[in-house]
Amino acid sequence: MSRTPLVAGNWKLNKTVAEATELVEGIRAGTKDLEGVDLVVAPVATALHPVAAALKGAPIGLAAQNCYPEDTGAFTGELSPLLLADVGCTHCIVGHSERRQLFGETDAGVAAKAQALQAHALVPIVCLGETLEQREAGDTLKVCLGQLDASLDGVTVDGDRLILAYEPVWAIGTGKTASPADAQEVHHALRERLREKHGAAAADAVRILYGGSVKPANAAELLSQPDIDGALVGGASLKAETFVPIAEAAVH
Ligand code: 13P
Repeated sequence: MSRTPLVAGNWKLNKTVAEATELVEGIRAGTKDLEGVDLVVAPVATALHPVAAALKGAPIGLAAQNCYPEDTGAFTGELSPLLLADVGCTHCIVGHSERRQLFGETDAGVAAKAQALQAHALVPIVCLGETLEQREAGDTLKVCLGQLDASLDGVTVDGDRLILAYEPVWAIGTGKTASPADAQEVHHALRERLREKHGAAAADAVRILYGGSVKPANAAELLSQPDIDGALVGGASLKAETFVPIAEAAVH
């Protein structure tokens, strides 16, 4: 079963409105003739609306980096899937390791957010991954499969409605990348668990992205692995000159 590769840029806490608009215009221009790969950008919340305007008519998805699983109400400081859809979002990252580590996000919270996003026809990009300590203890698969099961509790597992991202915590922003073989091993295990719990059609259709120090120099090899369906790119997504070659490397 062939899955269209997807490359997403997680801009994290970077870029003013002017900088974000300039970046997305560069990405749009640099990928206008690119076919065979889906693209998503995830700006900081204050830039979502202007980036949506800059993307008008372009086949590039727009993701938020987080959400709160209620539509409206007394939840100071939060943003809901309802409001994210209203500004033009198509996707939302949930359960990023920075949110799990710095903001106490739990698997149950991730599942609630993913469900709320799907209720508003937004596609959650559900992130998971092990820490260095867990990898060194030989617990990588146990940790990742546990996060997968719990973060997808009550979530519709369907290729059009869900994206997963495996991001080993020790590879994020460190310049250390999982070897293609190590990443493939985890991706394969995740897909087999999807097959067991959600059936072959879902397992074969859900895209599993790799994230953690993906750069133009290492993208092609990572993305050629059979169960790696794209990349969730942090640092290298902040410049069109480095994001566009990664998008190109995903086409096969
Ligand atoms: P880096 O590509 O900067 O390692 O970040 C990866 C990431 O966290 C994407 O969500």
